[in-house]
Amino acid sequence: MKIVLFDAHRYDRESFTAANHDRAHELAFLEPRLTAATAPLCAGHDVVCAFVNDRLDAEVLAAVRRAGIRLVALRSAGFNHVDLAAAARLGLPVVRVPEYSPYAVAEHTVALVLSLVRKIHRAHARVREGNFSLEGLVGFDLHGKTVGLIGTGKIGRVAAKIFAGFGCTVLAHDKYPAADPAITYVSLDELYARADLISLHVPLTRETHHLIGPAAIERMKPGVILVNTGRGALIDTRAMIGALKRGRLGGAALDVYEEEEGIFFEDLSGQVLQDDVLARLLTFPNVIITSHQAFLTREALAAIAETTLASVTAFARGEPLVHAVR
Ligand code: NAI
Repeated sequence: MKIVLFDAHRYDRESFTAANHDRAHELAFLEPRLTAATAPLCAGHDVVCAFVNDRLDAEVLAAVRRAGIRLVALRSAGFNHVDLAAAARLGLPVVRVPEYSPYAVAEHTVALVLSLVRKIHRAHARVREGNFSLEGLVGFDLHGKTVGLIGTGKIGRVAAKIFAGFGCTVLAHDKYPAADPAITYVSLDELYARADLISLHVPLTRETHHLIGPAAIERMKPGVILVNTGRGALIDTRAMIGALKRGRLGGAALDVYEEEEGIFFEDLSGQVLQDDVLARLLTFPNVIITSHQAFLTREALAAIAETTLASVTAFARGEPLVHAVR
């Protein structure tokens, strides 16, 4: 099938070309994000392959359908950016990659936590400047701390094991608790009251949008560290900034940001940053931000490409789409 990939980077080209070694499909890699303006570029292709900051609202889906697209293949696990009702109305099946490497995301979560609490981001910048002072770099042990995980799906469960390995007490909250005796489930209130560090691993839905807002923050331990490698809008960013300013939050480690579309994945280093909220966040010494890179390991990229192409092959053969999003 003819597949057009939007927001495609060099690493996508490499992983998809490798996964398509039998040349079963024809791949076109496009740099622009999928939007209403770029949707006509789908013409002449059967499948549109999109990532997390591509726009898949009703208008864009109608445009890609008009351009001849018959399948939407998300090369992500999250599908909060897709208007599924509109896709269904248009008769456009949507597939995703429900699991590629929960280790990639869980390990990045822990990397962010360690960097933040041991101030590695500040130490690295200092040492490069020839400043070998340790003033202001006092961190704390993870051992003996209580970690609260919200969401114990594939990623949350791996994170639970890693934090337990550090000697942390791991508490968890999930709408659908797993039958895993190693995980101690508590109410959200208890998690907020007891955790020294809270990490988010739930999908972004209407229910979880701004899950962490002013009321939730007030229920947390003073000085708690907030970690988000889920989706930006799980946190009310302005409320988080207020709490960081007051010292109510002890720090934040973020791989996602609610207004990341058009910013993350782009090199804006030569431009004036127009997003004042993100600009404020970047001023805190106790905030560390990566630009949605938790998924970015060789293993995860290979799995994403293989699963996506397998879904396209199944679609071409008229076989059931096991990774369809409904
Ligand atoms: P999953 O589907 O395996 O687990 C999600 C868990 O959240 C489930 O156990 C579910 O019961 C729970 N949940 C759903 N709604 C809830 C609610 N309202 N309250 C409490 N629990 C709720 O998903 P997985 O693979 O663990 O991924 C989690 C999220 O991580 C994804 O939805 C995605 O948004 C994000 N993600 C981020 C990546 C990155 O690069 N930063 C990469 C991959 C995923």
